[in-house]
Amino acid sequence: DPNAVPAAFSVHVGKHPGEPNVMDPALLTDPFGGYGALREKGPVVRGRFIDDSPLWFITRFDEVREVLRDPRFANDRMHARGNAEGEDPLSNVLETFGIAEEMNKYFTDSILNKDAPDHTRLRRLVSRAFTARRINALRPRVEEITDELLRRLPEHAEDGVVDLIEHFAYPLPITVICELVGIPEEDRPQWRAWGADLVSMDPERLGRSVPPMVGHIHELIGRRRAALTDDLLSDLIRAHDEDGGKLSDVEMITMVFTLVLAGHETTAHLIGNGTAALLTHPDQLRLLREDPELAPRAVHELMRWCGPVQGTQLRYATEDVELAGVRIAKGDAVQVILVAANYDPRHYDDPERLDLTRHPAGQAENHVGFGHGMHYCLGATLARQEGEVAFGKLLAHYPDLALAVAPEELVRLPRPGNWRLTTLPLRLR
Ligand code: HEM
Repeated sequence: DPNAVPAAFSVHVGKHPGEPNVMDPALLTDPFGGYGALREKGPVVRGRFIDDSPLWFITRFDEVREVLRDPRFANDRMHARGNAEGEDPLSNVLETFGIAEEMNKYFTDSILNKDAPDHTRLRRLVSRAFTARRINALRPRVEEITDELLRRLPEHAEDGVVDLIEHFAYPLPITVICELVGIPEEDRPQWRAWGADLVSMDPERLGRSVPPMVGHIHELIGRRRAALTDDLLSDLIRAHDEDGGKLSDVEMITMVFTLVLAGHETTAHLIGNGTAALLTHPDQLRLLREDPELAPRAVHELMRWCGPVQGTQLRYATEDVELAGVRIAKGDAVQVILVAANYDPRHYDDPERLDLTRHPAGQAENHVGFGHGMHYCLGATLARQEGEVAFGKLLAHYPDLALAVAPEELVRLPRPGNWRLTTLPLRLR
């Protein structure tokens, strides 16, 4: 069973009564209920990471935003812990993941694991490509890709049933992010496979995929260097080659796969989860069909109600911090639980209800599905746009779209951090 939780990750479950492990079946299979129960215990709750190391779950909307904008919580564990070999969750997990030690640097040197000033430097190099203006200019192309995929959807039908995940939810964001970064078309199926291997958390698949992925990026950079263009890869190469010290070799490699993987492995599941939500809430589906202008607000609500990312990267306290009456000691790890915050009844009326009109028109999003603060999702504007185009056009192309299985038959991949459908079988008409 490719979806089974690799045994290496279940060994610590249940070891510490009262301190739920992120691999607890209750949290994996029902994160909204499981983390929701923790949220009602308190805003700061003791738990355990995959490697059994202790952490604090941050569960409520206000405290989540507080932690994410508090510079005393670092993403780079070195800033909080020094080089604490052996008691470092990230390295422990990479080891359990089967990622050889010489590959660790490609993960630790990611924008997601850095603080200022390194984070600021890395973010500045890529943020220009993701401004609202640049993303708006991409919209016609996103629409064109969407139309083409939707037109061809019936070609993939078997007995009238199409898997939306495989034939629409993935291909759309992969095509968009690969065009933006400058990944050649013939390489994209390979990237789809690497993405799947990385999220599988299967040590064998990870050990097998990461070195060739890194090697492939090296080789791609070599080729592109000979003929720079206006894509993001060329920008990164220029920053590396010309502006001495702005970007190291490892940072350049890491940035490429972070962008390609973060750019599609998440958005695909906004499209998948969101479509499933709409099809199981006919009244909401009707609202969106009748008023396509509702799309931006609908995407805010779908991000809140079934956003694909459940929690952020770990943060580490760089000094003792008192939060909601709990003392978090210097060096302690903290995990912000976005799904718990997005259902916090202290912040939302009737949070369980999907309500596409919940977010007033023209207002900034009122959820934490894209995070908050310094590491707020770089691709949020792009992801929202892809969502708006995808939902709008899917409903317009297929007025009779329906689930081909009972809602309770939809299977989610039981992995911490992500909320994703393995397949979404639909009848187009
Ligand atoms: C960061 C979610 C789409 C690139 C984040 C974070 C979240 C998130 C929660 C913050 C993590 C943390 O604070 O630890 C999502 C969701 C998406 C999505 C739910 C789709 C629905 C994208 C896309 C890109 C992208 C399309 C394309 C470039 C990134 C990057 C970061 C990030 C580079 C790191 C930013 C930083 O550390 O400064 N994303 N993301 N994401 N996201 Fe997204």
